[in-house]
Amino acid sequence: MKGIILRGLQEFSMSRLGREEWASVREEVGLKEESFLASHSYPDATAYRILGAIASRMSLELDPVLRHFGHHWMHVTGPQAYPQLFSLARRDPVGFLRRLSSLHCAATRHLDEANAPHISITQEGSSHVRLRYASKRGLPYLAYGLLEGLWASVAIPARVEPPAPVDGQDGVWTFRIHVHGEGESCS
Ligand code: HEM
Repeated sequence: MKGIILRGLQEFSMSRLGREEWASVREEVGLKEESFLASHSYPDATAYRILGAIASRMSLELDPVLRHFGHHWMHVTGPQAYPQLFSLARRDPVGFLRRLSSLHCAATRHLDEANAPHISITQEGSSHVRLRYASKRGLPYLAYGLLEGLWASVAIPARVEPPAPVDGQDGVWTFRIHVHGEGESCS
């Protein structure tokens, strides 16, 4: 898994649990690194062990932790690492979603062990977008938190439905996003 994700996990852990707990996570997982290089690839198993250690300290299952982490990554780690991209995302979130698959390919092109998710979107009427997420890793609750975090950071209110597995297709989920933009009446 790319270091930008693990760096996010470190920041998430420090902000939710504090520095001392992060030190104990590092010890439990046997991490030698003090910090993570954004563009370096680390074993997926390291990311999963860190997640497990954080989840047990938060007394939560993995899926809710992934969802909280998605919010954090979208609010803190992502904008710090890719400021221009995130200012575009705030101006045009649907356009940003349309570019996600090519963004993931570009961000992982030169990394041997990267395994970027495939993301595509379909506009369904004026106020719904359906996002399809396909991944060898299968982290739909991370995608869920990232999507909620994206909409929370823009001025347009929206609601993201939980991931729905696609029948007969392993590792594929869809999300329905209700966008309440200008022009919709509030009753
Ligand atoms: C709402 C927006 C986004 C969603 C839903 C999303 C979804 C995800 C998910 C779920 C993963 C975990 C890996 C997997 O599932 O296979 C992931 C990994 C990753 N994402 Fe995103 N992402 C978003 C935005 C971004 C942005 C803006 C960037 C920066 C260009 C980015 C770069 C990456 C990278 C580098 C990885 C690691 C891939 C690897 O190590 O193989 N993502 N993304």
